[in-house]
Amino acid sequence: MDPLRSSLAVICVLSIWTTGYAADCGVRQTKTNGRCCDLCPPGEYVKAFCTEQRKTVCSPCGEGYYSSQYNLFDRCEKCRSCQQEYAEKCTRTTDTTCLCRSGFLCSNDVCSKCEENKCVTGEKLKRTGSIVYSYHCEPACSNDAYFDVKENVCKPRTQCSLFGLAEQFPGNKTHNSVCDGGDMHRNGTYFIHVILGIGFVLLSLTILVLISYACIKNLRKHKPYAHHIGIAAVSTNTGDFHLSKEESGFQLIIQDESRKSESLDQLQLEKISAL
Ligand SMILES: *[C@@H]1O[C@H](CO)[C@@H](O)[C@H](O)[C@H]1NC(C)=O
Repeated sequence: MDPLRSSLAVICVLSIWTTGYAADCGVRQTKTNGRCCDLCPPGEYVKAFCTEQRKTVCSPCGEGYYSSQYNLFDRCEKCRSCQQEYAEKCTRTTDTTCLCRSGFLCSNDVCSKCEENKCVTGEKLKRTGSIVYSYHCEPACSNDAYFDVKENVCKPRTQCSLFGLAEQFPGNKTHNSVCDGGDMHRNGTYFIHVILGIGFVLLSLTILVLISYACIKNLRKHKPYAHHIGIAAVSTNTGDFHLSKEESGFQLIIQDESRKSESLDQLQLEKISAL
């Protein structure tokens, strides 16, 4: 026989056999001993595999046991027990769900075991592991900061030297440093208030100066209008000027008139002499 033909035939037979093997069982069936057997539904297990004469025999899970999927298992799985609290009890189709009490941490992914949270305030928890967990605590804030419990945030510690003060207490992971100096020891807030106060006064003064400057500049700009409107300040100025002019004018007129009268006198004198 042709070796190529014979190998092709073998391949064909093999592929027909494998596809047929996979295809002739239903969705919730499996092949055992060359036969398609039904799987047992969730909540049951296989009591007896199928034979030529009968189908698979399934039996419900007993108390404390469950199965969650279509299966071929010869027994159900044991329900999980919780070290601390039960969130949901075990059913025939679902396993128990566990909880750890507050202040405790799950030691594994299903919380069936718990361990105490040993971190203190100012520390944060770090978890490692994916199925079995382990924990360690590390500082919540950087070295120059403290953890404010009330606000639940890290805050920088007051540096007393910045305010020219000695340190009464250097502070720690949960408490701010305390600076020396009577009333002023309150976290340096006193100084912040003083600085803010001075800043406010300076700002007010600056604004006042700016406003005054602007007013003065505005007044100067508007002076030419004053002539038309008749501002007293301007008129008195010119009035003064006029007065002095009039005064000098008055004198001139008087002089003039005296000259006139002089000439009149002369005329009269001439008339008299002519007479
Ligand atoms: C931090 O300082 C405060 C106030 O003195 C103190 O009560 C606390 O025990 C200290 N904490 C640590 C971790 O040293």
